[in-house]
Amino acid sequence: MPKIALLPGDGIGPEIMKEAVKVLEAVSERFQRTCTYEVLPIGGEAIDRYGDPLPEETLLGVKCVDAVLLGAVGGPKWDKEPAHRRPESGLLRLRKGLGVYANLRPIVACDSLLNVSTLKPEILRGVDILIVRELTGGIYFGAKERHAVEDGEQATDMLVYETKEIERVVRTAFHLASQRRGRLASVDKANVLESSRLWRETVNRIAPEYPDVKVEHVLVDNCAMQLIRNPRQFDVIVTENMFGDILSDEAAMLTGSIGMLPSASLGAEVDLYEPIHGSAPDIAGKGIANPVGIILSVAMMLRHSFGWEDEAQAIEHAVNHVFQEGYRTKDLASDSSYFLHTEEFGNKVVEEIVNFEMDF
Ligand code: NAD
Ligand code: IPM
Ligand code: MN
Repeated sequence: MPKIALLPGDGIGPEIMKEAVKVLEAVSERFQRTCTYEVLPIGGEAIDRYGDPLPEETLLGVKCVDAVLLGAVGGPKWDKEPAHRRPESGLLRLRKGLGVYANLRPIVACDSLLNVSTLKPEILRGVDILIVRELTGGIYFGAKERHAVEDGEQATDMLVYETKEIERVVRTAFHLASQRRGRLASVDKANVLESSRLWRETVNRIAPEYPDVKVEHVLVDNCAMQLIRNPRQFDVIVTENMFGDILSDEAAMLTGSIGMLPSASLGAEVDLYEPIHGSAPDIAGKGIANPVGIILSVAMMLRHSFGWEDEAQAIEHAVNHVFQEGYRTKDLASDSSYFLHTEEFGNKVVEEIVNFEMDF
């Protein structure tokens, strides 16, 4: 009986978490499974209650469960907090504490949503990309400094990578590419950054271990452009922490909305699942957030952490079906007068799971 830690966090985090748990309960019942849950504080709400964005209780708690599901953290209320007390630093410490170095962000264009995106449907049809983002190293975790200089201040963020940190995430990406369409784009800025030159050398050294995978190197600025020009050219993309953060928000628009993208952060004993979007303070409390990112993160959790492939597919089919029937959340609605609220959309997905015929 798997135990799941639920970390709702801030802003729309608790709203989408409610839908994720509803879907988990529905799929568990449908497939006669049982999960247990433990709700733990993180982010701004944890600062308010315990003065720490990642209280000891949470860090110890997540190490004693089978998987962790997170909503989102952050918001204007905590933007003036010192760096170590910001909600985001709680999330970074959680990722580092769990040791989840490989963040998988799948981007799949859904046929029934092709005309929702700001991009042309013929560019988007068939898009199926997996971004593998390095998650526990790079500029996010290097030394940070700030001190006075003549006429102002100086601030430093160090971008540091060690060979072994690059190797492990690159191997994950090669392995995943070999199970998909056999193409890997390694994205860096090797024309300027030393850390990128080490990244590129490491990829080239590992490549012969995966003769079935065709690897290419793409500079990050070009990659940002190619993702919009011709996204179907990509299968798996592997890149360092910050490039992966930025490229995945950009790539989200290939699906129509940032609210659509799930993620799985893997690499250690307990894995972490979270949508790629943030706490969306501009819509928090209105009941209009798109819960699909977290719902599909649940599917990734069932597949990767528990090996429940049928259950994962049931969730993915249900979400697709709800879209096929024409239901939309506000971020996807072309006619902004007709859309489902977060809770109504979650109910539709649950209905699909309950009525789902196991025909696969
Ligand atoms: P954001 O992703 O929260 O929002 C960007 C835009 O996308 C907003 O207009 C928002 O309304 C919309 N959006 C995001 N998720 C949506 C959803 N599920 N449904 C519908 N619309 C959605 O990014 P931001 O505004 O740059 O950041 C807000 C806060 O979230 C900041 O404090 C930031 O640090 C934090 N953040 C947290 C995470 C995380 O917890 N993993 C990720 C990104 C940003
Ligand atoms: C994400 C977010 C986080 C990141 C922030 C909130 C620390 O943008 O999960 O993509 O940059 O990793
Ligand atoms: Mn991000």
